Amino acid sequence: MSDIPLFTPFTLRGVTFPNRIMLAPMCQYQAVDGVPNDWHRAHHGRYATSGVGSVVVEATGISAEGRISPGCCGLYNDEQVAAWREITDLYRAQGIPVFVQLNHAGAKASTMRPWDGGGPLEPGSSEPPWQTVAPSEIAAREGWHIPQALEVEEIAAIVSDFARAAERAMDAGFDGVEIHGAHGYLLHEFMSPFSNKRADAYGGLVENRMRLPVEVARAVRAVLPQNAPLLYRASCVDGEGGSLTLDDTVALSHALKAEGVDMIDASGGGIPAGMRLAQQKPVPGFQVPYAARIKAETGLATAAVGMITEAEMANAIVAEGKADLVALARGMLRDPVWPFHAAQALGHPEPASILPKLYAFYLKLAS
Ligand SMILES: Cc1cc2nc3c(=O)[nH]c(=O)nc-3n(C[C@H](O)[C@H](O)[C@H](O)COP(=O)(O)O)c2cc1C
Repeated sequence: MSDIPLFTPFTLRGVTFPNRIMLAPMCQYQAVDGVPNDWHRAHHGRYATSGVGSVVVEATGISAEGRISPGCCGLYNDEQVAAWREITDLYRAQGIPVFVQLNHAGAKASTMRPWDGGGPLEPGSSEPPWQTVAPSEIAAREGWHIPQALEVEEIAAIVSDFARAAERAMDAGFDGVEIHGAHGYLLHEFMSPFSNKRADAYGGLVENRMRLPVEVARAVRAVLPQNAPLLYRASCVDGEGGSLTLDDTVALSHALKAEGVDMIDASGGGIPAGMRLAQQKPVPGFQVPYAARIKAETGLATAAVGMITEAEMANAIVAEGKADLVALARGMLRDPVWPFHAAQALGHPEPASILPKLYAFYLKLAS
């Protein structure tokens, strides 16, 4: 045990996180028919032995049409459940809570893998495009697919798909679920006045724009066991040229708390394009103020994410009460044992103790 804030445990509902470092969700774009495979098992094996305190696995489609690309994972059939179970078993064996990020990609569905250009799938290609949907008929970017505006009955079906996918997530052995409400995908598209021009109960004032995210949270909470945490990743503000404000996201967070959401994973950007934010240049820790304000004003737990690369910064975020967890993506790609190196840098009395016991045993002998 250590009293370094980054290495203290944290509990949400019935789940204890051994430390405050979270692996942020990262799409791998390498599934076939939504089913994770050897690549995903190797990727997650790397992190199951990394000393990380919790994991959110990649944006995973609640339906085939809700996937971002044909290479994205899903949780809409039994084969996918069985394949995910092999991955959750890896984490469970190491005592690392693991969550799945459930997503509907909205107007940003039906796209190519990033290394193929990341643009909209083209008719006549070996992977044909599919019809996308959104709150309004607004393309995610110039020249992208024009989505169909969802009818109210179709919105209800999407809410049900989220709930069904959450049930499957429990069958697959996940400790809980993160709802993807960020980065320009469907729930963020409903939240942002830039992409939501609806005149019905789902558009207009923030109370209406948040209706779908709140309905999804309610439906997912209803199927999760009492002791399973529910996380929500929000784009707290839009990207450059967008109009969603942090005030809107604080209002959303209050409403999500009332529905039984336990933590806001405070990200940003994605509308109208990219992840660049309107107000802040992407400098280390640029999104931490979002996590801090949401935590202070709602009392919800938060995770801070975005260019957190140094152990000292990560530890200070937790020590100063700005967020309960720090989530890292690229830092963990660069250095999969970042938590071990952070423990060393922060003067942890036994840094290897955060690793699996065989590694800890031999590294301790070596020190
Ligand atoms: C390869 C890769 C895939 C990503 N996939 C997702 C995803 O599935 N869901 C999501 O919310 N964010 C995704 N992100 C964003 C990260 O979770 C994170 O918010 C962002 O990279 C900023 O954190 P960082 O500076 O530590 O990389 C991805 C980032 C990377 C690098």
